[in-house]
Amino acid sequence: MIFYFSGVGNSAWVASQLAEKLGDKLVFIVDYAGQTIHIEPGERIGFVFPIYSWAPPKIMLDFIARVQISSPPSYIYFVCTCGSDTGKTPELFSAHIQARGWHCHSGYSIAMPNTYVAFPGFGVDKDRIAQQKISAAKDRITLISKQIQSNISTHFDCNEGGMARFKTYTINPLFNQHMLSAKPFYTTDACIGCKKCENTCPVHNIHVENGRPSWGENCTQCTACFHACPQNAIQYGHFTKGKKQYRLRLNIIQNS
Ligand SMILES: Cc1cc2nc3c(=O)[nH]c(=O)nc-3n(C[C@H](O)[C@H](O)[C@H](O)COP(=O)(O)O)c2cc1C
Repeated sequence: MIFYFSGVGNSAWVASQLAEKLGDKLVFIVDYAGQTIHIEPGERIGFVFPIYSWAPPKIMLDFIARVQISSPPSYIYFVCTCGSDTGKTPELFSAHIQARGWHCHSGYSIAMPNTYVAFPGFGVDKDRIAQQKISAAKDRITLISKQIQSNISTHFDCNEGGMARFKTYTINPLFNQHMLSAKPFYTTDACIGCKKCENTCPVHNIHVENGRPSWGENCTQCTACFHACPQNAIQYGHFTKGKKQYRLRLNIIQNS
């Protein structure tokens, strides 16, 4: 079984590719309503998610803390997607798994096109870079699925990057504390009230009323609404002005 979260679609695509290669079932964690999930004895469990500020998204760590499963998994792995680097995600993720009395056997990062635009200095990748990342990701998913099938153990293959400890244990808590607010989101006059944002938000945090979206208290900062808007009418404070959108379409990557 693969538990996954995805904002803009990169991690959903990776999760579906892995599920196909491993013959495993996919569960989108937002759909989890608290029931006990049946795990066959000897079944492996995977977690697939994007990196948010050099750590797994809070929504994924909260899910790990509360998910109820019928029997302890025999093998646990994670695959995270990131623009470039994960910080100390392997260590942090393993600690959260251990807090449940389980053990994380392996973990991988896959570089995918960057989706983070809600801060100065951050923007989507150029088309050529995005395409190179997708192409390399396909081979990497094949390699990862083979290693998982071989039950490889104590194997963590993530690009942690520089100042990893500082980013994960100092910056990430500040990000979770101060940057998850949806308050800076607004629409320009270009908004046509099409509800694409409402339908795209993976955590159902957007509601269109009187032809305009409003954001609730449950934002993950995934920026799916910014990228999905057909009018590019969604902005986040001054941070997103003039920035390009990103869309993953199976084999085609486009920065519109
Ligand atoms: C809020 C936010 C924070 C991010 N932080 C990082 C980061 O710390 N390191 C990194 O390499 N990429 C970072 N990214 C990029 C994403 O991890 C990457 O684009 C990922 O593939 C997006 O997956 P998704 O399409 O499933 O949401 C961030 C993206 C967002 C939206």
